[in-house]
Amino acid sequence: TTYSEPYRGQFHFSSQSGWMNDPNGLVYANGEYHFFYQHNPHGLAWDTMHWGHATSPDLVHWTQKPIAMEPGVQPGTLFSGGGVVDTANSSGLKTGSLDPIVVYSNTDGVSVYYSNDNGRTFQAYDKGRKVVTVPSGVSSRDPKVTWDAARHRWVMVFWSDEGGNGVSIYTSTNLLDWTFASRYRADWLFECPDLFPLPLDGHTNQQRWVLTSASSQYVVGGFDGTTFTADGTGPQKMVNGDFYAAETFTNTPDGKTVQMGWQNGNQGSTWTGDASFPVDLGLVSTPDGPRITRTPVAGLSSLASQTQHWAGRTLTPNSNPFSGIKADIYDITAQFDVSHATAGSFGFDLHARSDGSADRTVVYDTAKQTLDGIPLKPRGGKVTMRLLVDRGQLEIYADGGLFSVADNVNFDSAADSQGIRLFSNGGNVKLDSADFTRLNTSWG
Ligand code: FRU
Repeated sequence: TTYSEPYRGQFHFSSQSGWMNDPNGLVYANGEYHFFYQHNPHGLAWDTMHWGHATSPDLVHWTQKPIAMEPGVQPGTLFSGGGVVDTANSSGLKTGSLDPIVVYSNTDGVSVYYSNDNGRTFQAYDKGRKVVTVPSGVSSRDPKVTWDAARHRWVMVFWSDEGGNGVSIYTSTNLLDWTFASRYRADWLFECPDLFPLPLDGHTNQQRWVLTSASSQYVVGGFDGTTFTADGTGPQKMVNGDFYAAETFTNTPDGKTVQMGWQNGNQGSTWTGDASFPVDLGLVSTPDGPRITRTPVAGLSSLASQTQHWAGRTLTPNSNPFSGIKADIYDITAQFDVSHATAGSFGFDLHARSDGSADRTVVYDTAKQTLDGIPLKPRGGKVTMRLLVDRGQLEIYADGGLFSVADNVNFDSAADSQGIRLFSNGGNVKLDSADFTRLNTSWG
């Protein structure tokens, strides 16, 4: 496979072949980022869950590796879970010179699997014995482990329906023996939880903890090493659109909290599903409380092949600053001053054709104050949007990363379908600036 099929993401990871769903065991270990994923190598639909594997030096260029875990070879159900790097060999599982990668999986209890060859092969710890058990009749899955630096120990969360939907929290000092800490009950918490600290407004001494769930809902709160206490009430939504079962990486070299999720709708002749583009997570104070920000990792700029910049223009109906451009995969950032806008709406037609049609339109509605149908208030009279356009994916970021959309679009890559129309409807709007970056493929 050359990754050149129609709709195959060129800077989004997808399995070379077969089905993928959730990202699993995201770690930085022994000089590379590791992306494991729920994988069926035998077909294009969900079945016989394996853990697929890919590695990257920079979160942008991925190399497909052989399957890491296979049902029947490794005991257990091999459903979703997280991973850590045991740099201190606290588990005693280390046999060679590399840092062990320790991952967690299984349903209705938790099993440990570990690799001493940098994720190429895994062994089940103690024949797959469940190191955490749940009462019979209780469903549970998706263990995720994080380092709790304040307490010098590991913390695990997993979903279960014990007493209703929620997460169980366990702690450990050696990655193998786990002690029950508490249970956080919430109806919205279903599948693939993640619990991790983030500095508030960049201040490492003002750390808050974030608890997320598969559908990208989250709450911010405090974690005292035993109990998680949410600051406010209901959960917030992190991403709109086709985005599920995200995980954050552990052990990142720069200490950043990088997240990748699963986009379910992308399918071609040889594969199904792909990963969302990795983002750095942040936490900022807002009048409504702390909120997550998502920013595409800076490494994307390594794919830049051509850039173009516009500044201080007035957009009028039928003026298109992008008229000279034909592009397939690209990154656009545009800032509009809407304070004196007379346009009812403005935005971008993506993969536009000369007959006026386009594969996808991204619209800001000045009266409703919505971007792509989702509320987005101007800040100081400005609306700024960033669009990442790949062959099968569209991501929209705005409002300093407080707003994000992940969508699945089968873009037509034919030469006459590669136009970009920056439009305004029914009046004018000021374009403060726009930056276009044409991207190269990330596949080698
Ligand atoms: C989420 C999920 C997880 C489970 C996995 C199985 O998409 O249902 O809860 O572990 O997929 O593939």
